[in-house]
Amino acid sequence: EQIKKGNYDHFMQKEIYEQPESLRTTLRGRLIPGDHFKAKGVLLGGLKDHLRTIRRSRRILFIGCGTSYHAALATRALVEELSEVPVTMEIASDLLDRRAPIYREDTAVFVSQSGETADTLQALEYAKSHGALCVGITNMVGSAISRGTDCGVHINAGCEIGVASTKAYTSQIAVMTMLALAVGEDSISTRARREAIIDCLGELPGVVKKVLQLDEKMKELATTLVEEQSLLLFGRGYNYATALEGALKVKELALMHSEGILAGEMKHGPLALVDETLPIIVIATRDGTCSKQQSVIQQLQARKGRLIVMCSNGDAATMCPNGASYVIEVPQIQDCLQPIINIIPLQLLAYHLTVLRGFNVDQPRNLAKSVTTE
Ligand code: AGP
Repeated sequence: EQIKKGNYDHFMQKEIYEQPESLRTTLRGRLIPGDHFKAKGVLLGGLKDHLRTIRRSRRILFIGCGTSYHAALATRALVEELSEVPVTMEIASDLLDRRAPIYREDTAVFVSQSGETADTLQALEYAKSHGALCVGITNMVGSAISRGTDCGVHINAGCEIGVASTKAYTSQIAVMTMLALAVGEDSISTRARREAIIDCLGELPGVVKKVLQLDEKMKELATTLVEEQSLLLFGRGYNYATALEGALKVKELALMHSEGILAGEMKHGPLALVDETLPIIVIATRDGTCSKQQSVIQQLQARKGRLIVMCSNGDAATMCPNGASYVIEVPQIQDCLQPIINIIPLQLLAYHLTVLRGFNVDQPRNLAKSVTTE
């Protein structure tokens, strides 16, 4: 086991550090250079015969559990933007509890690292019985979900051993982004946007490598939070998913209560929790929602909130002119891919918190890597 971990103390730590390489593998052979006549594009072999059907769908459903659900959520807005098809989000167990309506004209996308999660698998059987086109996004060749779907994409993140998903999450976002690009590839009006995203995908492994340099800072931040009972994360837009996923990592690993909150909902309840003691991470990297996050920061500061602000490099003074208890600056990339960058410091924070609190990093109590029972 130690040999497989190499120089790392835990599999999770190794998997966090593998992300430049796992993303490179996910993207390999899938980004197609363009020229004067032809737009840059993506090649997803498993989907190419079904893209027309997906484009003509009445709606697209994203279905998954836990981290896989969050990865889908992170790409929802881009899929809607480029495909112009409405995307609805479904947690697999809830879809089944509701026996929600699914139609023949729907495309149902099943996202699962293991490809074996019982709830997602049952939701797949349910969607199939209603005649929807079923697409699988998995990390396991030959898994039940990849076998049971009509078509799909393998995320190629490599084997993930830590129960907490890290590199599979970032690769899932990369694949779902490519799915959006493929579905929207016929549109002339979005060509510049698509090409900018494709260029950014190519640069992603290098940027992820840079973000990993925040490791020491995140360890330092973890030492200030180690005794806390609770941690809130506020995100919105593309990074609402980052808030949910960061909170999931902290709760499942560090066994600390943590909640991801849609910042737009702050005034509708969570604001009552704010005081000088409760640590709150606000994700406020540059994108279309960033001025709204700036005002969230101001409102939290007005209530003397204990703020930890994540912002784009160089934005600290603008985003939190009255200071914050801690600032995490990250490189800025294309807005829709920013969740891949923003989650990495939070993965590192959860990792260090867990080590400092003395809990099992790779096998958190009560949890299994693949949940094969309902
Ligand atoms: C995340 O760290 C967890 N391991 C968990 O939420 C996981 O993502 C969920 O059980 C779904 O698993 P899957 O991706 O294999 O379907």
